[in-house]
Formats: sequence, C-alpha cells, structure tokens
Amino acid sequence: MPSRLNAVALCLAASLAAVSGQTFQRLGTCPTLGCVLPPDQQDFLPGQQFDIRFEVHAPTNGSEAFNGGVPDDKFTATITKEGQPAKSIAEFFKLSEPALEKWTFSWFEDLFAQDAKNASVVNVASKIYRRVALYEPGNYNVTLTYYSGRTTTAQWVVRPLAAKKKAKNVIFFIGDGMTTNMITAARLLAHKTVNGKYQTLLALDKFPVLGHQMTHSIDSFITDSANSASALYSGHKSTVNAMGVYADSSPDLFDDPKVETIVELLTRIWGSAWGAVSTAFIADATPIALTAHTRSRYQYGSLIDQALYGVTNYSWTKMNGPDAYFGGGAEQFLAGSGSYLGKDYYAEFAKKNYSISLNKTSLLAAPNNTKALGIFCKSNLPVWLDRNIFPENIKKLTNDPSGAKAAATDLPGLKEMTLKAIDVLHERGGKKGFFLMSEAASVDKQMHVLDYDRALGDLLELDDTVQATIKKLKALGILEETLIVVSADHGHGFDVFGNADTKYLAAQQDDRQKRNAVGVYQNSGLSQYTVEKPGVSYGTGANFPVNWDPRYVIAAGLGANPDHREAYGVAKNGSRVPAAAISGGASSDYYVNPTDKPNGFIVNGTLPTNEAQGVHSLTDVPVFARGPCQDTFGGVYSNIDVFYKIANCLGLAQPTNKTASA
Ligand SMILES: *[C@@H]1O[C@H](CO)[C@@H](O)[C@H](O)[C@H]1NC(C)=O
Ligand SMILES: *[C@@H]1O[C@H](CO)[C@@H](O)[C@H](O)[C@H]1NC(C)=O
Ligand SMILES: *[C@@H]1O[C@H](CO)[C@@H](O)[C@H](O)[C@H]1NC(C)=O
Ligand SMILES: *[C@@H]1O[C@H](CO)[C@@H](O)[C@H](O)[C@H]1NC(C)=O
Ligand SMILES: *[C@@H]1O[C@H](CO)[C@@H](O)[C@H](O)[C@H]1NC(C)=O
Ligand SMILES: *[C@@H]1O[C@H](CO)[C@@H](O)[C@H](O)[C@H]1NC(C)=O
Ligand SMILES: *[C@@H]1O[C@H](CO)[C@@H](O)[C@H](O)[C@H]1NC(C)=O
Ligand SMILES: *[C@@H]1O[C@H](CO)[C@@H](O)[C@H](O)[C@H]1NC(C)=O
Ligand SMILES: *[C@@H]1O[C@H](CO)[C@@H](O)[C@H](O)[C@H]1NC(C)=O
Ligand SMILES: *[C@@H]1O[C@H](CO)[C@@H](O)[C@H](O)[C@H]1NC(C)=O
Ligand SMILES: [Zn+2]
Repeated sequence: MPSRLNAVALCLAASLAAVSGQTFQRLGTCPTLGCVLPPDQQDFLPGQQFDIRFEVHAPTNGSEAFNGGVPDDKFTATITKEGQPAKSIAEFFKLSEPALEKWTFSWFEDLFAQDAKNASVVNVASKIYRRVALYEPGNYNVTLTYYSGRTTTAQWVVRPLAAKKKAKNVIFFIGDGMTTNMITAARLLAHKTVNGKYQTLLALDKFPVLGHQMTHSIDSFITDSANSASALYSGHKSTVNAMGVYADSSPDLFDDPKVETIVELLTRIWGSAWGAVSTAFIADATPIALTAHTRSRYQYGSLIDQALYGVTNYSWTKMNGPDAYFGGGAEQFLAGSGSYLGKDYYAEFAKKNYSISLNKTSLLAAPNNTKALGIFCKSNLPVWLDRNIFPENIKKLTNDPSGAKAAATDLPGLKEMTLKAIDVLHERGGKKGFFLMSEAASVDKQMHVLDYDRALGDLLELDDTVQATIKKLKALGILEETLIVVSADHGHGFDVFGNADTKYLAAQQDDRQKRNAVGVYQNSGLSQYTVEKPGVSYGTGANFPVNWDPRYVIAAGLGANPDHREAYGVAKNGSRVPAAAISGGASSDYYVNPTDKPNGFIVNGTLPTNEAQGVHSLTDVPVFARGPCQDTFGGVYSNIDVFYKIANCLGLAQPTNKTASA
C-alpha cells in the first residue's frame, strides 16, 4: 500500500492510520482521497471490456476533513504502458472526455460513531470512461493527479494469455459454501468403510487434479457469495454485495464501473451457448453474477432483466440471454412487486422464444433446440433431504411458481436440471460449444442455519450430479472436449469431531450431562448412516446414506454460530431455525430458539447478537478439475485465477482489437 502514496499523501496517511483498511471504510479500495477504479494490483484478460472511474473525495467533517469539503474537479488522469509515454485516458482509448459527476455520501468511522449515528460526510467529484479494453499484455500504470500534485497510481497487469481454444465446453459446478471438511463428512455419511478402507468413493474423489483457491474480497478477508462469484466469473475481485463491478461511492446502484464476465466474453467472441442452473432462486448471487452488474445483489428484479436483455442503460457488451436457465425464484417472474417494473417475466422470456417449464414433467419434455426457462417454485428449491426423505415438509409450503396458493411438488433436483441443461446447450451450442454453471446452493443455505444434515444431503446431490454429468457427456461423445471444474465460492467453519448418542442425550436433564453423549476419539465409532435400518427403505440410490436417522449421529458444529440449542441428529420437521428474537425484545436481537432441538443443550453464540445464523469463514476452498487444461488447476491460487484458467482454456483472450485491424 505505501508504494502508491507520494510524500504529501504519506503525511496524510499517518493521520489516517486509524481508519484506512479497517473494518469501517470510506471506500474499501481507496485509502487516499483520490480513487482509481479498477484500483491498484488488478489483472485483466487481453481484450476484456471494462469501465474506468476516477473519484476525488473531500470529507466535510470527521477525522479526514479536507479542503472545506470542496472536491478538486480539475483532476487529471493518465495511462502508461511500460516503456511508452503517458497519455490521457481519453487520448489513449480514443474517447471524448466524459461529463463531470458530483455526489455526496456518508459513512461511519467506527462502532462508536455508528452507535451515536455520527456519520462522516464526503463530497465527491468523478468521471467515468465506459467500455474500454486493453489488448496488449504487459504492465500498465494509471495515475490520477488531484489537489495540486497529489497522485494515486494503480498498477495493472494484462496477463499474457493466448487466444487458442483448448476446450469446446466448460461445466463449472459450484457447491456454495462447500469446504473440504464438508466433503469429508458427506463421504462418511454415504460411503461404507471396512476396517478403515472406503468401499466406494465420491465422484469428486476420482478427479485427477485438485487445487485450492483463496476467497478474500477486494476489501475484506471474509467474502459473500456475490463478489466471490464475480471474481470466479470475471477475474476481478470486488466488494461484499457487488457483482460485475468495482463498487464506487455513488448512490446509483447500477452506475459502478463494470467488468466483462465469462458468459459476456464467450457469447461476444465465440457465440457459444450458455446456461445457469441453481437450487437457489435464480436471481440469487451465484447464478445471477454471470450477467449482473451492480453493487447491490438485492436488486433481484432488475438483475433478471439484465440476465435476459443485458445492461441496457449504459454503453456495454450486447448480451444473448441464457440458453438454459433453471432454478427457483418465481417472485422475480410473476407480475408484481418482486419483478422489474412489475412486469411478467415469464412473458418477457416467452417473447424471446423461450420454452417455459414450471415443473419437472414439463422440463423433461421441453425441446432441446429452443432456449429454455424453468422456474420450479418461489424462493429456493426445497432441499434434497425434504424432497426425498421427508416429503411431508414440502407439502406444507405455498411456493407454486404459477403464483397459485399451493405447494410445488413436481420438483426437479440439481441432477435433472443439470442433465436437461446439457441437452439444450449441446444442441444449441453445436460446433461453438457451451458454458454451464450448476450450483448446489443449499450447502451454504443450510450451513447458515446449522442444519448439517440438509447441507450434506445437498452436497451429496451435487456429487451424484457430477457423476451423472460425466456419464451423460460420455454418452454424448463430448466428455474429452469438456472441462469440468467443481469448486466453491467460500466456506463455513464446519467440521465433525465425534458421534453423539441421541438416545442418551435426550434422556439427560442437565446441559452438562447432555454433552457427555458426545463420543470422541475411540468412542466416535463408525458411521451408522451406511447401516440399513430394518424395515426402512429410502430408495435414494448408491450415492446417499441408507439411514439418515441412526441413534449414533455425527457430532458436528460450526465455528461461528448464534445462541442455539444442540442435540445433533436430523431435524425431521424441516430446516432448523436455531435462533430467534424473544417476545417483547428487539426484533434483531437473537437468542436460543426454544422450539429448535428442545432436548438439546445450550451453546452460546460467538457472533454479534444481531446475527440469527452462522456466517462464512476464511478457509481456502477446493478446486477439482478434469478435462482439457486440467493440469493448470493444481496448486494454491486466488479465486480470480479460476477465471483466467477457464478463460485461457476457452481461448477468450484477444491480444489485438480485431475490429480495429479488420
Ligand atoms: C462525532 O465524531 C467526531 C469525530 O469524528 C467527534 O469529534 C464528535 O464529538 C462526535 N459527535 C458525537 C455527537 O458523538
Ligand atoms: C458531519 O456533519 C453532519 C451534518 O452535515 C452531522 O450529521 C454529522 O454528525 C457530522 N459528523 C461528524 C463525524 O462530525
Ligand atoms: C509503475 O509505477 C511503479 C512505481 O512507481 C514503477 O516501478 C513501474 O515501473 C511503473 N510501471 C509502468 C508500466 O510505468
Ligand atoms: C438501469 O437499468 C437497471 C435494470 O437493468 C435498473 O434497475 C436501473 O434503475 C437503471 N438505472 C438507470 C439510471 O436508468
Ligand atoms: C421467435 O420465433 C418466431 C417464429 O419462429 C420468429 O419469427 C421470431 O423472430 C423469433 N423471435 C426471437 C426474439 O427470436
Ligand atoms: C406441469 O406443467 C404443465 C405445463 O404447464 C401442466 O400441464 C401440468 O399439469 C403440470 N404438472 C403438474 C404435476 O403440476
Ligand atoms: C433431448 O435430448 C436427449 C438426448 O440427450 C433425448 O433423450 C431427449 O428425448 C431429447 N428431448 C427432446 C424433447 O427432444
Ligand atoms: C414435529 O412435528 C410433529 C407433528 O407436527 C410434532 O409433534 C413435533 O413436536 C415436532 N417436532 C419438533 C422438533 O418440532
Ligand atoms: C447464552 O445464551 C442464552 C440464551 O440465548 C442467553 O440468555 C445468554 O445471555 C447467553 N450468554 C452470553 C454470554 O451471550
Ligand atoms: C476496437 O476498434 C474499433 C474500431 O477502431 C473501435 O470502434 C472500438 O472502440 C475498439 N474497441 C475498444 C474496446 O477499444
Ligand atoms: Zn456462497
């Protein structure tokens, strides 16, 4: 960080030491008063389109108050490629100077300021240069000069990647929140051991190459699913809640400087087909980050509009809507408050000649040569455990995707959606190939509510889907030309540390005595989930437990949890609600939920008391790869590298502006 501060700024930095880079930030990527977005240390794919924003900040009050709150609006900016003279941004990119923008924002400097509602106010002058690209690999410096001689320099690297295409297709599986610890636990539940040796393995265990990716956000070490997905899909890190943009400080949630994503590049350069499949609502972060450009992931309706039509109100890459798009989230499609401008998005997709499926039967019958939309419920898809083991729980819901006050019961799982998407994409991509992202969303969602059985059930569904995908690609004759990557966007601090005797635990009265039901070390015994229960058949196949409800269950936990009660073992009535507000108390002050695991013992929380759920954790997450370019995925690297590896394998680098040379 010091390298980009000049002498004047260094003096300022001393007084700023208390705020810059801390948990409360004026703008995370901008510790000085002059901001360059994309900021320092960013990497680019040759030819990838992006916007450049400059901001000059003038804090009116608080610890950084400067220049009477008047921002310098005569700032200038240059770009230099190593060994070449500096040019103004407009000259270098052959653009006209954009208009000057001005706005004001405020922020809290620490928890004391937040408690006292004592915000610091900042006035801003800014310019944005839209839709540029750097073609030639190498090092570039972008320097903003402001307040008579202060400078902020961003060093950028355009990676030396080739334009040669090595894989025809890519299938990218994301187990949301999935860690190696969870994979280990899922294997224990579904696969038998004899004297310490597994008799069968997960599909993931058979991948030839394993790597690890670091998930940090650009300005915080714990990530959310929006900016981590964005890093995986664009090669650019971002801020919590942001996707496809570097977050700026302006009030408009859509004007932030954008970066081009993998599917925008792929449709622009090769005209390939693409699809997204998720067990979440389809406007949720992981699927929507393929097309979204906003600093707020919560703009669900707008983001569905962007998925179908692309970004329409700023100069940006023209996008083809997805060829296959399957998941939950009818709220953003039914005409009404959840959809963009209240419009009927089933009708909007139908206008673009999509087949529309609202249940599994209709999905399986949909034509393979037509673009396909499948929305199977409101909100997230019910999890594998409720669909397969406790179906009574899904009959209680009112989540019909047509808006009828009924339960959606003819539901596909991740496997049916993924295999159908492959049929459509294979047919529509033809010689141009395809890209598919398939997300097991509820590994994360159920870890959040400490419902480990539901999370691991969905992890096993992902593994079963990967196995079925490999078989399907082989049958279609395209396995060897398809790169398959299985990874995660972040983790949760989960592990298994023994077993628990649920019968003994329930019989004890005292919290400390209940904890003695946990068997550690030699008393952890062997997995009872692989031992059939007499008279009970789940019929869910070889890749799943034969008994979800044994007496001896895994004793597992998260390192980050709200106050809750623990009894271990499966929650038969539906997903857990571990913590709740108490009657008469504040609505976001969470205590043990008295109706969750009433037989259990109290575990006090480790999180702020306004967190009702567990949170994401720091851990690196695994990357499994097989197919063309598989060897590039070994080792330890940043989440953005996953994008560069996939983009390189798809030949998406453009070291020259072909339009210009044509
Ligand atoms: C607001 O914060 C400033 C310092 O940033 C401090 O001087 C002032 O006393 C605070 N005001 C209140 C009401 O807490
Ligand atoms: C800054 O000024 C605003 C009023 O414009 C005030 O509400 C706020 O408390 C001030 N903040 C600080 C840190 O002094
Ligand atoms: C960018 O600036 C750094 C620090 O001043 C310098 O070492 C480097 O050579 C510069 N690179 C370019 C491309 O000008
Ligand atoms: C730009 O379009 C998005 C939808 O993609 C919309 O939500 C947003 O309000 C628009 N912004 C402006 C400034 O028109
Ligand atoms: C939809 O299909 C009709 C009939 O084949 C065709 O005329 C029309 O151009 C298509 N529309 C789009 C948006 O592809
Ligand atoms: C599935 O959707 C089709 C087409 O909308 C409809 O005709 C059929 O009744 C639905 N089936 C079920 C089981 O809901
Ligand atoms: C789609 O393709 C699959 C083969 O992969 C085939 O079994 C299925 O019948 C096709 N569906 C339709 C509706 O054509
Ligand atoms: C589950 O539901 C059954 C039937 O409604 C009820 O008797 C039981 O108390 C519930 N159990 C829990 C743990 O909520
Ligand atoms: C432990 O949890 C209980 C139940 O939610 C709560 O009343 C108590 O205040 C918690 N203790 C601490 C130290 O947070
Ligand atoms: C590529 O070259 C064309 C033709 O000169 C030009 O219109 C276009 O803006 C260039 N693209 C970029 C991103 O520089
Ligand atoms: Zn996530």
